[in-house]
Amino acid sequence: MLDRNLNPIIQFKDWFDLASKNEINDPNAMCLSTISNDNKPHSRMVLLKDFNEKGFVFYTNYESNKGKDIYSNKNVCLNFHWKSLLRQIRVEGIIEKLHPEVSDKYFNSRHYLSRIGAWASNQSTLLENREELENKIEYFKKKYPDKENVPRPPYWGGFLINYHKIEFWEDKPHRIHQRTVYELKDNNWEQYTLSP
Ligand SMILES: Cc1cc2nc3c(=O)[nH]c(=O)nc-3n(C[C@H](O)[C@H](O)[C@H](O)COP(=O)(O)O)c2cc1C
Repeated sequence: MLDRNLNPIIQFKDWFDLASKNEINDPNAMCLSTISNDNKPHSRMVLLKDFNEKGFVFYTNYESNKGKDIYSNKNVCLNFHWKSLLRQIRVEGIIEKLHPEVSDKYFNSRHYLSRIGAWASNQSTLLENREELENKIEYFKKKYPDKENVPRPPYWGGFLINYHKIEFWEDKPHRIHQRTVYELKDNNWEQYTLSP
């Protein structure tokens, strides 16, 4: 059992709630870093859609470049930076696909055009021009005209990042910042502080 008093998700929630009140845009935006099968790191922003003691959730195209990286290497990092708070959170973890039913539920909650877009976009593949994408969107609108009944593409869904290390970084005067790390060791969270 995790020690709830030490579990960093509680501190994450405190900071995330504060960011949600203060950040102008996308307090749930996070940088996701993955490693490709030729050992090159890649980073991009994604949106956090859920979090709990099991991990952090986002949705994407499983066949995108990030999806390919994740297929060959399950080690990933997340980075949240909230300018309004002068705070950063870094997460290290192991990623896994969400259960299809959870992905279905989230997919069905999305706007009709976002669901159509998921069908139309072969994310990270080359487009000849914008028109090619627009034509595909029209094609899938005709294919799935019932807004209440668009199936989830098999190549689109959620990922869960099972975290084992989280660092909370907080700006302090004169760059004497506070860095607090939580690391899971033998199923217990250890907490320590790093020099800024
Ligand atoms: C603020 C922001 C949020 C984003 N959220 C997502 C997201 O939740 N899922 C996603 O697939 N792409 C998202 N993107 C686009 C990604 O950054 C990226 O362009 C895309 O996923 C393709 O990445 P890849 O080629 O590395 O797979 C977002 C971009 C920005 C700027």
